[in-house]
Amino acid sequence: MRFLIACFVIALSVYFAFHRLEYDNGFIRFAKRSPGNRTAVKAPEKSPFEEDDLMMSWYMEDSDRHQSYSLHYDYYQDSCPTAERIITKGVRELYDAKPSVAPSLIRLLFHDCFIEGCDASVLLDADESLTSEKEASPNQSLKGFDVIESIKSELENVCPGVVSCADVLVLAAREAILMAGGPFYPLETGRRDSAVAFKEIAERELPSPQATISVILARFGTRGFNERETVSLFGAHSIGVTHCTFFEDRLYNFSGTGKPDPELDTGFKQELKTKCPFSASAPSPGTGIGPSTIPASDYGGVSSAGGNDGAIDLSYNNEGGEENFGTRYYRRLMQKKGLMYADQQLTGREETEMWVRAYASDTQLFRRDFAMSMMKLSNYHVLTGPLGQVRTTCSKVLPKN
Ligand code: HEM
Repeated sequence: MRFLIACFVIALSVYFAFHRLEYDNGFIRFAKRSPGNRTAVKAPEKSPFEEDDLMMSWYMEDSDRHQSYSLHYDYYQDSCPTAERIITKGVRELYDAKPSVAPSLIRLLFHDCFIEGCDASVLLDADESLTSEKEASPNQSLKGFDVIESIKSELENVCPGVVSCADVLVLAAREAILMAGGPFYPLETGRRDSAVAFKEIAERELPSPQATISVILARFGTRGFNERETVSLFGAHSIGVTHCTFFEDRLYNFSGTGKPDPELDTGFKQELKTKCPFSASAPSPGTGIGPSTIPASDYGGVSSAGGNDGAIDLSYNNEGGEENFGTRYYRRLMQKKGLMYADQQLTGREETEMWVRAYASDTQLFRRDFAMSMMKLSNYHVLTGPLGQVRTTCSKVLPKN
């Protein structure tokens, strides 16, 4: 009897694993149709990588295993039917006025989800009982808090206390990616917000711009991201800005040698030197590159209030147009034109370099992989059901009763 029940449960699990996401005419979607007339993730007719189908079913199983069953497609259908529309509209309007909101939101999502999951902990302000994650040095240059707060306050006017800040953040980041020319991906909702923040973990776990490939893979690996997924997520570095302070050492004093990084293209290095003139405060990581030896202050010097050092456009004036979202980043890496040491590290090892090469030449492959990895990141360690809370203001935990 026990055996029969076990077989039945296994059969049901397999059924659900294959019906949560379906692969319909080249589009990835939930079994229930996605809302609106969005462009879903178009997969190539025929993938150049034989393991693609295998990867697809692995993703399905994996997303089921890691994500809580309490996340649902269109979770706010009854409690706040206009929630997703309000978020989408909010991001679009703000993007039209200021396109830089898109990269800010995507980075904000990464920094939230990477540290103890997508629970909006990064949005919390410090108060007498809480040390804010925003104060961790990698987070001091984050932007987009005001965007999330303004969308959340609009939601509070319509359905008070219903839509979590964690859901607002993942949905806003998805819209931001779409606005910036990236792919659409389906997301389930029902995340809840944490009542705590994780400053020390953020300080310790977010990789430094000088991180080695070993450190990068280890940090992503412990969160369940393999080489392919890790490399695909870096495609987000094809939009937005980075400041001179995060790569200046590569121009003037790489690894304490007093010389530039030999892995940097010579012409590109000269170009960068004109934009980032030598400053005595440039970080010089010494000989032991890697976060264990890199002081947290390597992230310092730039705050969301805007540092006065140069900001370099990661899109290079939208090089190649919006359809080159992601792809242009990998092409530049292939030319030794990665800005941060951590970026160029992706070409430093065969297992990652092969994906850099693949994404540089196959836009559709990148778009599909990036969409899958962003889905996975957005579902990482979420709080659901009775866990956490739904804040009314994203920067403050609910007062205790
Ligand atoms: C080893 C991993 C990573 C490191 C060390 C890193 C580091 C950085 C740094 C230093 C900046 C520049 C910030 C500034 O100058 O204001 C930046 C920008 C950015 N990062 Fe990352 N990053 C990593 C991975 C990721 C991932 C996985 C994503 C998204 C999935 C991401 C998305 C972005 C975006 C969109 C920007 C532009 C932000 C803006 O313009 O406001 N990064 N990153």
